[in-house]
Amino acid sequence: MFKIAVMGCGVVGSGVCDILLAKQEEISARFQREVKLSYIVDVRKMPDTPYEKFLTDKAEDVFNDPEVRLIVVTIGGLEYPYLLSKRALSAGINVVTSNKEVVAAYAKELSRIAFENKCRFLYEASSGGGIPIIRPLNICLSSNDILEIQGILNGTTNYILTKMSSKGLSFDTVLKEAQQKGYAEANPAADVDGYDAARKIAILSSIAYKGFVEYNDVKCTGIRDVKAEDHANAAKLGYVIKLIAGSKLLPDGSVTATVEPKLVPKDNILAAVNSVYNAVLVKGSYTGDSLFYGKGAGKLATASAVCGDIIEILGRPTEDTLMPYVEKDLKVSNDTDIPCRFYLRFDITRAIEDSVSIAMREIFGPETVFAAFGGVLGMITPPIKESAVEGLTRAFEAATDTDFGCSMRVLE
Ligand code: HSE
Repeated sequence: MFKIAVMGCGVVGSGVCDILLAKQEEISARFQREVKLSYIVDVRKMPDTPYEKFLTDKAEDVFNDPEVRLIVVTIGGLEYPYLLSKRALSAGINVVTSNKEVVAAYAKELSRIAFENKCRFLYEASSGGGIPIIRPLNICLSSNDILEIQGILNGTTNYILTKMSSKGLSFDTVLKEAQQKGYAEANPAADVDGYDAARKIAILSSIAYKGFVEYNDVKCTGIRDVKAEDHANAAKLGYVIKLIAGSKLLPDGSVTATVEPKLVPKDNILAAVNSVYNAVLVKGSYTGDSLFYGKGAGKLATASAVCGDIIEILGRPTEDTLMPYVEKDLKVSNDTDIPCRFYLRFDITRAIEDSVSIAMREIFGPETVFAAFGGVLGMITPPIKESAVEGLTRAFEAATDTDFGCSMRVLE
């Protein structure tokens, strides 16, 4: 018997239980062995649910049963799920997790422990929710040199930005609504400040570039400062604003890794990714661009990715090589100062006059274009270095009656 224990019966964990209960007979038939959800570890009582008869509040019950071959770790937080995963892998029990905090911080160590104990540590659900992206990067695309990844990896912020843009609403209004609907957490910081997407791009980049990318090295800017007026200006100029998680291989073998709101041209495929959907665009040396698109969050979509890992383990229980990123750290170089186009926002106290557009083109260059909405001037510069932005905006403020608000890069 191949017993499975699910630790943490929250949104994703309960989804995994639902899918296993619906599909375990089919899975058993496929692998010609009895596969069974046997334990659900959670401190909550769940009377009158399908989970009740599997419930225990003691992780020891799982570790004391030698027939448990796989533990699904769907507990939130960092240290406890990490310690549970480590203990299981050290005992040769496979671990599948959706916990991106654990994966971003400890995947190196846990992958090595799994390898040494001839079991597996898989985490397809940790990035992109239900979208198959980790296995394609690790296997299907692995003969390519991956040159670049651009993605929308956070459903909450994509929902907020989409709603701000389509309804002309402020960040605070849409955040409140997203919290009421259960899309955004009560404490939305990890999502809106970009840390969730930073962990996900670090996980994907480590696999793609075959060297460990430390998530704390990802340069991270959230969406709190994006205003409804920026969306209106961006739309007039032919763009939409998206929180883009991106990484790029540099010629010296280091990588850039960033999460920041960017202006995405309307004809870019990522511009069409709306609401809670996620997408990842991967540039391979042989494949060119491949797009992975789907639900980046949600109970059953994320649980589907967890169950895919369970099936992978049933098919190849011990055959795993050590992920290349375990052996090597990658340098993250975000200070390259490569010129790019910027969107700059200025508050205008008077109507736009000819002198403003003359000063704008004199200071930022003749190709600069602008749009104005509700007392806010938005302009898109020709390619300039980030280090030059501050000096140029000061010069513009001094020459005109404006106040600099923010800058965002244009996605090239
Ligand atoms: N908070 C995450 C998001 C959940 O909004 O994308 C999925 O990782």
